[in-house]
Amino acid sequence: MKTGNRGRLAILISGRGSNLQAFIDASAGGALAADIAVVISNNPDAGGLRLARRAGIPTRSIDHRDYPSREAFDAALAAEVGQRDVDLVILAGFMRILTPVFIEPFSGRLLNVHPSLLPKYPGLHTHQRALDAGDTEAGVTVHFVTLELDGGPPIIQARVPILPGDTAQTLADRVIVQEHLIYPLAAQWLISGRLQLTDHGACLDGEPIPATGIDYSPGASSGAPTEPG
Ligand code: GRF
Repeated sequence: MKTGNRGRLAILISGRGSNLQAFIDASAGGALAADIAVVISNNPDAGGLRLARRAGIPTRSIDHRDYPSREAFDAALAAEVGQRDVDLVILAGFMRILTPVFIEPFSGRLLNVHPSLLPKYPGLHTHQRALDAGDTEAGVTVHFVTLELDGGPPIIQARVPILPGDTAQTLADRVIVQEHLIYPLAAQWLISGRLQLTDHGACLDGEPIPATGIDYSPGASSGAPTEPG
């Protein structure tokens, strides 16, 4: 049931849930006008499930190993999310490739966070790949999910410098701070009606978002107002 005009989210996780915690904090603190209706994990041991329970959020484990195919797993996931009457589905470290069985019913209200400056480095091991390539910066992208893996229209990007002596871990530690800032912000934009997925890509306040997303790098002046609304 909706509380006032607050939105309702389903958050899908596989692991520790630090992005989930950022959503819990943003929801409680007022930066995000939405409640988390359910947290679902494909991994019954995900640490994020404990974070959700501690916050009083309903949780569900849907173990992909119990299903004969990706499509069968996705159908179970879609049924679970579908009965929660949510406005938005948040993939927060959800480490399963989704099929059209899940993506199509939630198109336009399905977001992912990916720890690279897309279109660079879709897939895994993004930080190591940025280091191996000799890049001078790395970052994170929040994007709409479409049928192309990590290929949906970007919404927000945040960049961080790659520093001498960085490892994949030190770089990940720098990037995740930015993930926690930009992901709830993108969700707030969608919940408040400012953000849409159109046939031409992502739009904010009716204007097309640039192909690499709005730049929310520390110190960047993005031109997009940050207040909820
Ligand atoms: C994050 O780096 C996210 O970008 C990636 O998986 C990681 C999940 O971390 N997709 P957490 O579980 O939210 O802490």
